Amino acid sequence: MDRLHDEHYVRAVTRMGDERAVVTNQPIFTRNRIKLVNQGARVDSALFDRLVAHKLIPRIDECLDVENGITRQVLRDDARKLLDDDPALAVLRADPGLLGRTLRAIDEIPLTPPIAFKLTVAASQRPEVYNHSLRVTLVALHLAVKSFFLSQKELTNLAAAALLHDIGILHIPPDLLRPGRRLQKSERHHLYAHPISGYLILRQYAEYHPEISRTVFEHHERLDGSGYPRGLKGGEISRDAQILMLAEVANTVFESSPQSQNLAKLSVLLRLNHKKFNRDLGNRLIALVAAMQSGHREDDDHSTAFANLSRLPPRLDELAHVFSDWSETFRTFSQSTKNAATSLISLVIDERLAELRRTLSDAGFDLDQVEAVADAVSEDPEALVELDILIGETRWQLTDIIHEAYRRMSDALNDSAGMPLPPPILGWLERSETRLSQYPRYS
Ligand SMILES: [Fe+2]
Ligand SMILES: [Fe+2]
Repeated sequence: MDRLHDEHYVRAVTRMGDERAVVTNQPIFTRNRIKLVNQGARVDSALFDRLVAHKLIPRIDECLDVENGITRQVLRDDARKLLDDDPALAVLRADPGLLGRTLRAIDEIPLTPPIAFKLTVAASQRPEVYNHSLRVTLVALHLAVKSFFLSQKELTNLAAAALLHDIGILHIPPDLLRPGRRLQKSERHHLYAHPISGYLILRQYAEYHPEISRTVFEHHERLDGSGYPRGLKGGEISRDAQILMLAEVANTVFESSPQSQNLAKLSVLLRLNHKKFNRDLGNRLIALVAAMQSGHREDDDHSTAFANLSRLPPRLDELAHVFSDWSETFRTFSQSTKNAATSLISLVIDERLAELRRTLSDAGFDLDQVEAVADAVSEDPEALVELDILIGETRWQLTDIIHEAYRRMSDALNDSAGMPLPPPILGWLERSETRLSQYPRYS
């Protein structure tokens, strides 16, 4: 757990101490049993340098009390407020039976004092993480109640995992996750580590281990093995993690704009990702978002899509180019390489791209005929909106494939010390990444 005692988290804790009373409930020592802080002392930014310089005993979450901390009552009130204030979530409270089970599950989430403390740090210093987690919890519970016959205890476990799924993010440098910030290759490992950090935090407490901790560990895995941290596949991934994944997808869609495109975005996203997510849960989510969106006006979507019309041909060309560049690279590379680990990576990329190409062609989007595609939609507002979203999602998919390749490459490098990256593959990854970074998502 030492790796979790990091500067970013200590910074967040001491900053919280500047805003409200954070007081030690026991003395804090260094590993060498030197007393650093007395019991009953107030902890704020003035203590940051002292706390961050040592490994602390006990752990920082275990020796601090905070004024107005998160309790189950606060969680329930915050969930209720989110349901009342956010029009997109209104449908979640329409069914009184379902609402009752949802709130009860939240009400029963086990909260050990150290985890309650951590949630208080999240709510006060990283409110976007706290609110995201609550929204994921509400959507996950809805999907679970509608899709499975679960006991109240099972729902409570799911609620706890959903609430705590991103708790490891509190240990990532907050700057990295600023909206609009593109992560550099060297920074991505911070992000990939957060399910592991979350697992390590929860593993310490019998209330969360092993079920809830496992769900948190697996929430970025994908059914086709393209996820992280372990690249698990299909049934290796727990039911609750499969629910969480889709609740996250829903939130990604809710958080992007314009809202009136949510349903179209979600269905494109699930169609392109049909190998990654549980199909029944995906359909359930579509039904939920359709209900959330019923009655919205579509005129705004159409005008946005027409405004993007002139950029369609270059965006389509660019996508087609990423694929054709790969075909050429793969052909040359597979003739020359003898290395098993890098061949495997190139086969994975090839398979993922072939799958994506197939899905796109099933959706009526033929990459060899981009001009015809652009012409066909230019007069049809519905088709234009859909193509606009499809392009955005395809770019996102390609970026995911590139990131997966880099992850697999660094794993392979760790296994066979010092093996150089194969230049042709690396070249394609870099060229494609640059190409795809030229337009923001949903531009
Ligand atoms: Fe998340
Ligand atoms: Fe996450």
